[in-house]
Amino acid sequence: MQYRLLGICAAAFGAFMPLAAAQSECDRASIEAFADDYVAAHETGSLSNLENIAENFTYLENNKTQEITSGIFTKALKIAHRHTIVDTVDCASFSELIVTQNAAGQPAPYVIGTQIRHNPEDLSVYLIDLTVSTTGSWLFNSTRTLEYVTKESWALIDEDKRDTREALRLAADAYLDMWHNKSAIDAVPWGTPCVRLEGSVYTGSGLPTDSCKVGIPTNNNQAPNSHRRYVTDVTYGSISVLCIFEHLANAPDSHEFRMENGKFRYIHTITLANSGFFSAELPEPKPEPAPPARYRVRGDSSARLG
Ligand SMILES: *[C@@H]1O[C@H](CO)[C@@H](O)[C@H](O)[C@H]1NC(C)=O
Ligand SMILES: *[C@@H]1O[C@H](CO)[C@@H](O)[C@H](O)[C@H]1NC(C)=O
Ligand SMILES: *[C@@H]1O[C@H](CO)[C@@H](O)[C@H](O)[C@H]1NC(C)=O
Ligand SMILES: *[C@@H]1O[C@H](CO)[C@@H](O)[C@H](O)[C@H]1NC(C)=O
Repeated sequence: MQYRLLGICAAAFGAFMPLAAAQSECDRASIEAFADDYVAAHETGSLSNLENIAENFTYLENNKTQEITSGIFTKALKIAHRHTIVDTVDCASFSELIVTQNAAGQPAPYVIGTQIRHNPEDLSVYLIDLTVSTTGSWLFNSTRTLEYVTKESWALIDEDKRDTREALRLAADAYLDMWHNKSAIDAVPWGTPCVRLEGSVYTGSGLPTDSCKVGIPTNNNQAPNSHRRYVTDVTYGSISVLCIFEHLANAPDSHEFRMENGKFRYIHTITLANSGFFSAELPEPKPEPAPPARYRVRGDSSARLG
């Protein structure tokens, strides 16, 4: 009898092993709940509801450490668009926020990409890492960015069609390697259609032939995109990478990639390079597949800025 019980125990234990492993993943709902509180803090301009902050908490805005009370949180903003993904392996989230007005209805243009990192033990937050773009940033126009974003679908991906974390990471890295590695171009899983939203400029026009290859680097010997920080969510086929565009005067940058069936479908970028000169002549959205030369500059930014 005892023997038999033991047997049952061993079987039960064996059966629970994978479950236990799954349970050691970070809780999606808790990470999402903190992201909700974070978004609410933007809406109210108040940090008082941000709880479970770690002892060693750090706040970064555009790659610079600062007091969380000194930055963008002094403003109450109307969040016109919000999209959040959760990394249940690295205990982190990424949120994309688009703002055109403050809470009082006055103009307040921002596009923000935020990674939040939690301690796996108690889910306390030890890093809030923002890329905040506004007027003067690369191809910036948050009203237009909003128009494009709201037409896209970043819905949950069916369980049997999900790309792996590894596939997402390899794809994102290959893309970000193109500036310093020509062979990386062929390693990128280019999809068709695929659209890149670069600041407020859209490489697509709603055609089945839309391509994300428009305006990619032609000079592949530039300084790299370094200091990469990742948040990966296979349920949305999405990976966020915050990094430094060394070839673009060390610009803080955010790229979020969406993959469907192993190929890129959407790419969103936020770049803190000064392109104030664009505001006077920002290209209208154009249906032609050929990009205006002035934003192909991204492919060879060292030449323009150097
Ligand atoms: C803060 O603590 C977390 C979790 O223990 C750790 O991963 C992280 O590196 C620490 N950050 C700093 C800046 O020490
Ligand atoms: C920003 O985009 C909106 C919507 O497309 C447009 O009406 C507006 O003129 C643009 N602003 C600038 C400064 O280009
Ligand atoms: C360049 O990219 C290719 C394709 O991803 C990769 O195999 C190769 O190792 C990379 N080379 C360098 C120097 O990073
Ligand atoms: C970005 O932050 C990292 C880590 O704090 C630092 O090492 C790096 O020098 C920073 N880069 C720029 C361009 O500010």
